[in-house]
Amino acid sequence: MTKLCVCLIERTPEAMLSAMHSLPRYVHMVEVRLDHLWQVLPRSAEADLERICRNKDRPVVITIRPRREGGLYEGPEGDRLRLLRRAAALGAEYIDIELDSVAELGEIPAPTQRIVSYHNFQQTPSDLEGIHRKAAGAGAEVIKIAVLARDILDTLPVLALLKRHGSTVPTIAVSMGEEGMPTRLLAGKFGAFLSYASLAEGRDTADGQVPFRQIEEMYRFCRIGPETSLFGVVANPVAHSMSPAIHNAAFAEVGLDAVYLPFKVTDPGAFLDGYQPHDLKGLSVTIPHKEAMAPLMDDLGELAARIGAINTVAIRRGRRYGSNTDVPAALAALEGAACRAGLLPLGRRTVLLLGAGGAARAIAYGLAGKVGRLIIANRTVSRAEKLAADVRAEHCGLERIDRLRPDVLINTTSVGMYPRVDESPVPASMLRGGMVVFDAVYNPLETMLLRQARDAGCVTASGIEWFVGQAAAQFETWTGVAAPRELMAKVVMERLSRG
Ligand code: ATR
Repeated sequence: MTKLCVCLIERTPEAMLSAMHSLPRYVHMVEVRLDHLWQVLPRSAEADLERICRNKDRPVVITIRPRREGGLYEGPEGDRLRLLRRAAALGAEYIDIELDSVAELGEIPAPTQRIVSYHNFQQTPSDLEGIHRKAAGAGAEVIKIAVLARDILDTLPVLALLKRHGSTVPTIAVSMGEEGMPTRLLAGKFGAFLSYASLAEGRDTADGQVPFRQIEEMYRFCRIGPETSLFGVVANPVAHSMSPAIHNAAFAEVGLDAVYLPFKVTDPGAFLDGYQPHDLKGLSVTIPHKEAMAPLMDDLGELAARIGAINTVAIRRGRRYGSNTDVPAALAALEGAACRAGLLPLGRRTVLLLGAGGAARAIAYGLAGKVGRLIIANRTVSRAEKLAADVRAEHCGLERIDRLRPDVLINTTSVGMYPRVDESPVPASMLRGGMVVFDAVYNPLETMLLRQARDAGCVTASGIEWFVGQAAAQFETWTGVAAPRELMAKVVMERLSRG
């Protein structure tokens, strides 16, 4: 089974030990980065090392990484190798030794094992196989290869290396950087010996490391195995996406052997081709790939084909099926509010839609033909004009909206979104009791527009309902199982209220 290893970079031996002792049992081992204790070895180094080895409560990797390999150690090489040999004598289960130093280190006493490591902080070199062979030839008990991913496509040769060798030679292969995160989370699927995690946010030893709590509690790392199905969100940027939190919680709730990852993608076609053979079963698609993904599908839902944009990919028996759950989820949120306001049916109502971007497009297609009047208003009037022509609606500039008396007001502009929380896209005087006001912005939880609307006696709907609705529909598309909507909403609310 692939182990979870937390890297410790505390500044004193006591802090190293207390951090180690505070870790839950699912953390199988720790890497003690002695180069974070000492840039050159002090007199007390041996005694401190002895204390760490005698008081460890789980297997340790002892590492003294030199500057040239991305560490902090600047002292003589002889001192470093001597201390590593001493760690072996003191019963450290593993010592980490760089590929270019392993010959100098020589033999070490059993049962300590050598993790022979190779790092490349510039790129993913083309000859990963050759590096692996060299490390194996140097007598490595465990081989570690850590290379920078500049693009998610760089993770593919790293995962392939793991798949080829993981079951025969204990191998750690990791793509560093945000783009490389899938290699850390999927270590168990591809048979890696271990995956490194950080103690907490900002305590990482390499770019892209995930805090251990997140890796286990959100991604359920220890349950991921060769059969685990892959899902994820394709976006750029992707770091702040809430989709991994809600979909992984939903998979856990219904007991599916599946994991949902953030994929930072620049080329959606190459990404699909590369990841599809690895049990990729479904994707959420978001900015900026919703349009570019559509032509890459084998089949498109009727609505998705009409809009030319998808937010959901389901892969079944090798075929890609693209659909759009944004539109029905927006309509459901809107109709729920209209029902509460007594405004159903919408066939005789006037709807003012603010914005002309992707969100506005989804809503406009959903509403077209279903409402009495649809007016699209946007800062850049030409974009409003184009969207209005596509869905046969009216359009105007923002300066004209206070003359309108809509029954339903929908905001899809980013006005009011964090951090500009003290702004509203409309004057408060436009808000009348009995109106429905729907704000697609959900960060903050209550925008200024929604607050003013509530004060004016409007019925409100928030972007949260939309977000959870589209995610729940995706989950149902992929799994055929009813989505745990309340749980999904709770996860989103918790994350947003944490800020
Ligand atoms: P999305 O896909 O989320 O809809 P988008 O395509 O970037 O995102 O669209 C953002 C919308 O917010 C656009 O309608 C944009 O107006 P422009 O088309 O004129 O750019 C609107 N928007 C952004 N900032 C705005 C501001 N300060 N005032 C008014 N509208 C704004």
